[in-house]
Amino acid sequence: MAVQRFLIDTDTAGDDVTSLLFGLLWPNSSVEAITVCAGNLHLEQCVENALYTLEVAGKAGIPVYPGASKPLVGKLVTAAYVHGEDGMGNSFFPKARQRPESLFAPTAIVELANRWAGELQIIAQAPLTNLALALAQDPNLPHKVKKLWIMGGTNHALGNITPAAEFNFYVDPEAAKEVLQAGFEVVLSPWDLAVSDGFLTREELEPILSLDTSLSRFYLAVNRAAWEFNRSHPEGGGLDGITHPDSLTMAMALQPELIGQSSRHHVDVECCGELTRGYSLVDRLGILGRPANAEVVLRADKMAFREMLIKLLGR
Ligand code: RIB
Ligand code: CA
Repeated sequence: MAVQRFLIDTDTAGDDVTSLLFGLLWPNSSVEAITVCAGNLHLEQCVENALYTLEVAGKAGIPVYPGASKPLVGKLVTAAYVHGEDGMGNSFFPKARQRPESLFAPTAIVELANRWAGELQIIAQAPLTNLALALAQDPNLPHKVKKLWIMGGTNHALGNITPAAEFNFYVDPEAAKEVLQAGFEVVLSPWDLAVSDGFLTREELEPILSLDTSLSRFYLAVNRAAWEFNRSHPEGGGLDGITHPDSLTMAMALQPELIGQSSRHHVDVECCGELTRGYSLVDRLGILGRPANAEVVLRADKMAFREMLIKLLGR
């Protein structure tokens, strides 16, 4: 099987880490670069978490490029209350030896897309600010990127930061709107997928809990704060287990047969609504008469995903 080349754009916390591990360690996967955007945490912590994850994966040397420290419009909203103060389940790991690159992430995205034109797939698992800024540098980017996998939005479902909006689209709705309308070949992995087919209960996690490998211990450490939030906090929905928004998106990119059902629709993002800013409109019935711009994933194979996770963490 040909090598799959990825650039992962991340606001490294909790499940972002699991997604990075998939990209870094899965057979035939080559992560050409990691670009970082502020989101779950402030930029500096997201950068350190990405560098530390590289070290844990034994992949130090893959370049990490710092990007946007705030959205295109307005102030940064973070989610340390979900993932822990450090974004890693309050593990407070030491700093990695590797330091970030000096090149700005959007510029790196353009350079990598040109270097691997037609081959590079981008995993966008953060607010889309870096992608929007890269588009401003090179409007032809969509024609050079093989596929853009976006974790974000909802498909006529409850949001996780407001009732209407998912976090990545809420933090930077202007960027999400721009990127979705730019002409990329988009696969959209919405939040409702993460809390259904991307959600593993305590019982379903048992095989991972009993692995007791360094990677499984790392996975549980970085996801423990979010697990506790899901279980005990009203906004967590009382879910006693771990949601996998980013890592399920990465897993589907690695093994597209994981996608159980998807359909192509026009997707747009609300930027002005007092109550609905960041809301993703999936025009399922084509009422707006606009061309489809995203393949929206409706179902994924949860048990196959769990098997991938067990294989990854059992190394
Ligand atoms: O809404 C979930 C998304 O927002 C995930 O990517 C999580 O890491 C945060 O970035
Ligand atoms: Ca993320």
